[in-house]
Amino acid sequence: MKEDVLREFGWAEMDRQHRSLVGAIEFLAAGPRQRTADLVELRRIVDEMGHHFAWEESEMETSGYPDLALHHSDHHRQLQNLQDLAKLVDLGRQSLDVDFFMACRDWIFRHIRSMDGNFVLFRQDREAWDLQRELQAWEYAAHMATFPD
Ligand SMILES: [Fe+2]
Ligand SMILES: [Fe+2]
Repeated sequence: MKEDVLREFGWAEMDRQHRSLVGAIEFLAAGPRQRTADLVELRRIVDEMGHHFAWEESEMETSGYPDLALHHSDHHRQLQNLQDLAKLVDLGRQSLDVDFFMACRDWIFRHIRSMDGNFVLFRQDREAWDLQRELQAWEYAAHMATFPD
């Protein structure tokens, strides 16, 4: 499902960091394409993203969030992809195009809506989070039961 609205949670610091990241990507997308300038801004975004992920993960640690490892691996994969891309742009083997910006925005929106959303739910409403967990386990079991032994 495509989503064009950045989900906000009413957690001021988190919402601010998300807006800033999306804003930076939209700013880069709108600018003229010049490899050197793109590269500087892309590296700055990778940096900002790394800081945001580290902040979010430390909040998870403080809250004793059980899905920290899973969340971290999604962060790590995305950061790695962007770092690899920055290297290719630096080598002149790749230029930033509309597909890149769309994919990046899509990933951020999706990650915020699903994974960050789960963490925020855990912090704000533990009972609802537990319930959601049970439901997921139940759906998984029901799904597995449809396969023959
Ligand atoms: Fe996250
Ligand atoms: Fe986030």
